[in-house]
Amino acid sequence: MKKLCKIVLVSSLSLLCFSCYYDTAIEEEEIIIPPDEEVFFSTDIQPIFNKCTSCHGGNTDPDLRAGNSYNALVPQYVTAGNAETSELYNYLPGHGHHDIGLTLSPTEIALIKTWIDRGAENN
Ligand code: HEC
Repeated sequence: MKKLCKIVLVSSLSLLCFSCYYDTAIEEEEIIIPPDEEVFFSTDIQPIFNKCTSCHGGNTDPDLRAGNSYNALVPQYVTAGNAETSELYNYLPGHGHHDIGLTLSPTEIALIKTWIDRGAENN
């Protein structure tokens, strides 16, 4: 009986440790867009902005509606080639400040970062 208790204790402890480790691993996962995967403004980035146009629909700068967003963003809010210094990147909900009850997925944030870092083309 004593031995059984020990086994149960050890296995539940290791299960607990493993689940903690697993949690952290998921939270800290950074999405990297592979170099051979192209990122297009029109099909990858603009659709993300559909979450923003309820506010950024002409009255609040930048205007993120399709057709207006590129010229509204580049170069004022986007430094082509450098996401870290781009106001757009630093303003993304769930990433920087601008806490408006809207979050972007790690993939959406990675897409925007990659698009800027690769030169912020209007493609
Ligand atoms: C609920 C309304 C709302 C939503 C949704 C929203 N924003 Fe904003 N955003 C604002 C307001 C208000 C400001 C200006 C005040 C401030 O600086 O926080 C702002 C400011 C910004 C700025 C900086 C503008 C400047 O001149 O400094 C950027 C860039 C921006 N938003 C991007 C986005 C993006 C990208 C999304 C969608 C992923 C988004 N916003 C969604 C309300 C919103």
